[in-house]
Amino acid sequence: MVDRRALVVYATSEGHTALVAERIADVLRRPIDDVHIDVDVRPAEHGPPPEGYDVVVAGGPIHATHHARHLVRWLEQYAAELARVPTALFQVSLTSARDDEAHDRAARELLSRLEEDTGFDPDVVGLFAGALLYTRYGWFKRHLMAAIARREGGDTDTSRDHDYTDWDAVEAFATDVAALAIAADRPAASG
Ligand SMILES: Cc1cc2nc3c(=O)[nH]c(=O)nc-3n(C[C@H](O)[C@H](O)[C@H](O)COP(=O)(O)O)c2cc1C
Repeated sequence: MVDRRALVVYATSEGHTALVAERIADVLRRPIDDVHIDVDVRPAEHGPPPEGYDVVVAGGPIHATHHARHLVRWLEQYAAELARVPTALFQVSLTSARDDEAHDRAARELLSRLEEDTGFDPDVVGLFAGALLYTRYGWFKRHLMAAIARREGGDTDTSRDHDYTDWDAVEAFATDVAALAIAADRPAASG
């Protein structure tokens, strides 16, 4: 049995990106042939240094057209270390819930801006649709999000939540990340 180590660092406001991060970790933990990957999942505000990991995954949601401050800070803080390890980046947004070229371009621009702002240059990227969690929002946020959904032609039934994430796409992304980990040259093994 060969062991690898993976780190998944995520930001979240309402918890949906945390679920995406956990699903990625679940896929990484499935043994492939004789390789077993140990996975640590950490919120960005407590994100550890990337040293010692064979692959690092970072991800966060879009709120008010921006990535989460904690995620940006963690990527900036460890930019030099992250440049030396295989990496993946995922973004969760409602922009990616719309299946047309303009929204896809807008989602990619948000991802590119994060890469430019932090110098992070991931090997694999994933753009995932998020969720409208009406039952968890307070009054103001629920009405704000319903107004945006109405304008965008989205779901306006605030009595329940709406999950737009393509979980098969999340699993496919995680499988690509596992391949990166397996292909990684371990510093200990190469020395
Ligand atoms: C207050 C608020 C603002 C949001 N702003 C945007 C936005 O500007 N663009 C976008 O694509 N999605 C936006 N979203 C959608 C979130 O990215 C989506 O709900 C995501 O699933 C949130 O992930 P989280 O639960 O991990 O915070 C917004 C959501 C909320 C609640």
